[in-house]
This record gives sequence, C-alpha cells and structure tokens, in this order.
Amino acid sequence: MARTIIRFGVIGCGLMGKEFASAAARWCHLTGVDFEPRITAVCDANEAASQWFRDHVPSVEAVYTDYKSLLADSAVDAIYCAVPHQLHAQIYVDIIEAGKHLLGEKPFGIDQAANRLIQDAIDRHPEVIVRCSSEFPFFPGAQQIYRWVQERKFGRIIEVEAGFWHSSDLDPTKPINWKRRIATNGEYGCMGDLGMHVLHLPMRFGWRPRSVRALLSQIVPERPDGQGGTVPCETWDNAILACEAHTEDQQFPMLLSMKRIAPGHANTWFIRIAGTAFSAEFTTKQPKQIASLPYSPGGVQAWHVADAPYKSAYGTVTGGIFEFGFPDSILQMWAAFCDELAHGDRMQQPFRCATPQEAGSSHQIFTAALESNRTGRTISIDWRS
Ligand SMILES: NC(=O)c1ccc[n+]([C@@H]2O[C@H](COP(=O)([O-])OP(=O)(O)OC[C@H]3O[C@@H](n4cnc5c(N)ncnc54)[C@H](O)[C@@H]3O)[C@@H](O)[C@H]2O)c1
Repeated sequence: MARTIIRFGVIGCGLMGKEFASAAARWCHLTGVDFEPRITAVCDANEAASQWFRDHVPSVEAVYTDYKSLLADSAVDAIYCAVPHQLHAQIYVDIIEAGKHLLGEKPFGIDQAANRLIQDAIDRHPEVIVRCSSEFPFFPGAQQIYRWVQERKFGRIIEVEAGFWHSSDLDPTKPINWKRRIATNGEYGCMGDLGMHVLHLPMRFGWRPRSVRALLSQIVPERPDGQGGTVPCETWDNAILACEAHTEDQQFPMLLSMKRIAPGHANTWFIRIAGTAFSAEFTTKQPKQIASLPYSPGGVQAWHVADAPYKSAYGTVTGGIFEFGFPDSILQMWAAFCDELAHGDRMQQPFRCATPQEAGSSHQIFTAALESNRTGRTISIDWRS
C-alpha cells in the first residue's frame, strides 16, 4: 500500500517527545494505514535531550536548539510540541503562523488568556490542523464506552464520574520539578496537568458543566530542590470538581477528579457512567476489563465484567487476546492525528484527537474551578462567551 509520509519536527525532546519517537518507531504495529510519521527534525533548548534523538532515531536529519530555526525548515510538515506550559502560547502560535500542522500537548496554554492566543492563531489559519494530545480514550475499553454513549444506551443518565489519579507525589522526598511550580506549570496545578485527560470524553459527548464547585488541595507544601535545600511546592496537588452537566435533553451530576496524590494509583484514568437503562465503567487499573450493567424495570441488577479484546481504533498486528497498554494508546492517538493530516474529514475511523475547542472548554472549567475554590462558591459557566 502506498503511504503518505508526514515529516515531523519535535519541539521538546523530554518524556513525551521520546514517547512519540517510540510510537513512530513502532508504526509497523499498525495494519491497513496508508500514512506514516517520519521524525526528520528535533529541537530542545537542552542539547542533552536532543542527543537521545541523534542516538535513537535514524530519520532525524536536523537538530536545533532554537525552535524558530526548526519552523523555518521547509522539510518539516507538522510539529509535535511537548514543552513546559508557560511556553505553549508563544511556541504554538509561532508553529501555526509558520503554517505547520500541530499536535500540541495539554493544557494548551498555561491559563485561559494563553489559550485564547492559541485559539486566535487557529482562527487566523484554518488551513492548519491543530489537535491536543490526549491518549486514554484510545484504550479499547474507553472506545467501547464511547460507542455506547453514541448509541444512547444509558437511558436517563444518573451521574458520571471521571478521573485521572497519580501517587508518586505522596513521597515528600521526591524533588521539585517544573510541574510543581506556578511559573512553569500554571495556577491550575494538577488540573492543567491531568484535567484534559479527564475532560476529553465528557467534552466529546457534549456534557458541558453549567456550574462547578471545586475543592483544591495542597498536601505537600515543600520539596527537596535537588541541591540539599527545600523549596515551596506551589501547585495544587489534588482537585475535586462537582459539576452540573447539561445536554440537550438531560441534566446530571458529573464528578471530576485530578489527583497527583492518590495512594496506590500509578496512572489510573477512569470513567463511570450510571444510567437508568445501562451503566458502564472503564479504568486503566484493569486495562483489559470493561464492566457494564444493563437494566430493565424489575430485572436483575448485575455487573458483567468482561475482558475487552484488543480491539483498537486502528488495526494492529497484535492478536485480539492480548492486552492493550499506555504505549498502545499513544500509538493509536498518533494514528488518528496522522490519519486526519492525510485524509482530512475522510478519516479511516471516526474518533479524532482532542480538538482545540475541547481544550478551550477545559480552560473555562479550570478557571471557574479556581474561582470556586477561592470564594467557596459554586461558579456558573457561560458557554456563550
Ligand atoms: N499526554 C500525556 O500523557 C502527557 C504526559 C506528560 C506530560 N505531558 C505534557 O507534555 C508537555 C511536556 O511534558 P514532559 O513531561 O515531556 O516534560 P519534560 O520536562 O520531560 O520535557 C520538556 C522538554 O522541553 C524542553 N524545553 C524547554 N524549553 C524549551 C524551549 N524553549 N525550546 C525547546 N525545548 C524546550 C526541555 O529541555 C525538556 O527536554 C507538557 O505540556 C505536559 O503537560 C503530557
């Protein structure tokens, strides 16, 4: 099958930049795709980070320390940008202005003002395809939940709970990094870090909160600075958002949680939907299981827990009996982005990556959550603005 090769530049060669390189190197895992990313250029302000790409990614032809040089490289069609949050607005806007397609990392701007600058650039350049990284909805169990929502199986929705929980910050001896400082991670704290993952499916379903009451916690006030001293750990560790979700014909409570300190949880993403006709739950804690509870009046209320087969959005060489994991979800997300670059609206399957509008909605919710926590009040969200 002839393939469209998409030449990528990577800006930010840290944790997530390497995850993309790993997904691109494993492209042979996918079947039936007629598009493929090729990382031809990379940029990191820290040369030690880009050295990893020199050592491991043979397709890399150019290495830059200034992202503007990479943007001037005509041998690059699209960019993956994975840099600290205070840099999102400037670099994303420059990428879009340079006419390069962009998969940007969440939260898509350190705050709502930064997010608006990115949105304005997108509005000026509709020819550029811009999407926000969010991989968990590509787990087969999450894809099943997506299909069940599309099929309107749940009846009247009773309530929704979604979350993303980590626990490594429970260790007070873990040194500080940019993700624990307001200047680099933003005032949103754990919401900016984890919240887009939690909101991707609810926003895709159109479950916009009309109001939010937030409880934000700062649990570990200071951390080692890595040089023998301690420094303040400024960002919110955990967030619980009680939302009143509204759709065209339904209204229900939606509890969203983003936790950096959830004992026992390494990287747990989950969604639970309770409905009068059907309930369902998927959690990456049990990545191959999906739970569902069909109900008809007077009938038995019994959870069915089934092993979800390896049934991904894009076909793979993996047998259906094997398990799906985090790197698989990254690979599937990348397939969706490259599919959209290659085919536009005629993608091979319908689930596209998170959109800038969905990322913008997350900013409205986090901004309201900060106000709620500050004032102790429930904050209304006006979706017309
Ligand atoms: N999708 C996910 O699951 C996921 C997971 C972790 C992080 N992220 C997001 O990815 C982004 C990066 O996070 P990370 O964990 O990879 O961080 P990281 O610290 O591992 O990597 C960031 C890299 O950016 C580089 N950098 C800093 N300033 C730069 C500049 N001006 N020009 C070029 N490079 C520069 C740093 O040197 C570093 O190598 C953030 O937006 C974060 O929220 C997403």
